[in-house]
Amino acid sequence: RDTEKGAYPHYMLKEIDEQPAVLRRLLQEYKGKTGSIAIDPAITRAISEADRLYIIACGTSYHAGLVGRQLIEQIAQIPTEVHISSEFSYNMPLLSKKPLFIFISQSGETADSRAVLVKVKKLGYPTLTLTNVEGSTLYREADYKMLLFAGPEIAVASTKAYTAQMAVLSFIAVAVAQGKGIKLDFDPVHELSLVAQAMERMIDEKALLKEAACDYLSVTRNAFYIGRGLDYYVCMEAALKLKEISYIQAEGFAGGELKHGTIALIEDGTPVLAFATQENVNNSIRNNVQEVTARGAHTAIISMEGVTAQPGDKIVLPKVHKSFTPLVSAIPLQLIAYYAALQHECDVDKPRNLAKSVTVE
Ligand code: G6P
Repeated sequence: RDTEKGAYPHYMLKEIDEQPAVLRRLLQEYKGKTGSIAIDPAITRAISEADRLYIIACGTSYHAGLVGRQLIEQIAQIPTEVHISSEFSYNMPLLSKKPLFIFISQSGETADSRAVLVKVKKLGYPTLTLTNVEGSTLYREADYKMLLFAGPEIAVASTKAYTAQMAVLSFIAVAVAQGKGIKLDFDPVHELSLVAQAMERMIDEKALLKEAACDYLSVTRNAFYIGRGLDYYVCMEAALKLKEISYIQAEGFAGGELKHGTIALIEDGTPVLAFATQENVNNSIRNNVQEVTARGAHTAIISMEGVTAQPGDKIVLPKVHKSFTPLVSAIPLQLIAYYAALQHECDVDKPRNLAKSVTVE
């Protein structure tokens, strides 16, 4: 049964392992007659008519939104902004003439996101919800909806919903691009199947990821993730996962921004883990790693086979299309957090002070 742990010690580990299957299911659920990606044509139309998209979300869903923004802008060429729900409610930016709002919520019940939904509906703007829970509040109240098909996510720390959200956002990007007649220089279905395989290969690397968690995170009270471009967004999620379940104070930083303040925190032995999957910033992020190594940091690089990998990198991900690297990076960031939490003897599935869905403001 979907809601049972089976042989797994924790729901979180089970849910991490389920991610390749969830991605394959999504590719089936959003498959058109010709075998390409297809979404509800009414959604494609509504999005194509908008002059700007506003993605609204909290926590991990917000981090999926940051990746989604880049995919939508690059693939579908629609200007897109991403906002934290609780900030948007009180500090609404100046909106474009024809906005469309995309709510991302695993539970579909997050009060902060619903507050924005209610507000923008009153203003008469179209709304789309991406959620894992059919019939949830955000599902019911939005004009358009897309399901994440991740199955029940029980562990408080979100894992499979995160990758499912990024996948569905990529489907939106691809479907809208196809609708606008934009020629893609890659086959999205093929590339995403490779992503599922790459995820599986990382899931098979548990021993290596456990070792990395022990080496870098078993005694520390703080840690940094650094990256650039898409990897920066991955770092934000990596830091959040670590904070949530291991209580290690962690931050995800844009590599180039370190020198503007944060580098003051680097001491002898401070763990700094760098994601370096993007070819165009490979040299710059490696320079950032050198800057912190020179100041005593205990550094590790997570790179991509045949793209950015160099001898000595701690973790090397299988090669996937450059737009989809965050889906693969998700596996090591989640497993590192998981094993770090075990090292610190934390309650992985039910971390202190956190709730799976936050239905109060
Ligand atoms: C809670 C959870 C987080 C989650 C966030 C947004 O704080 O602990 O894991 O990312 O809410 O939840 P949602 O259901 O809206 O995606």
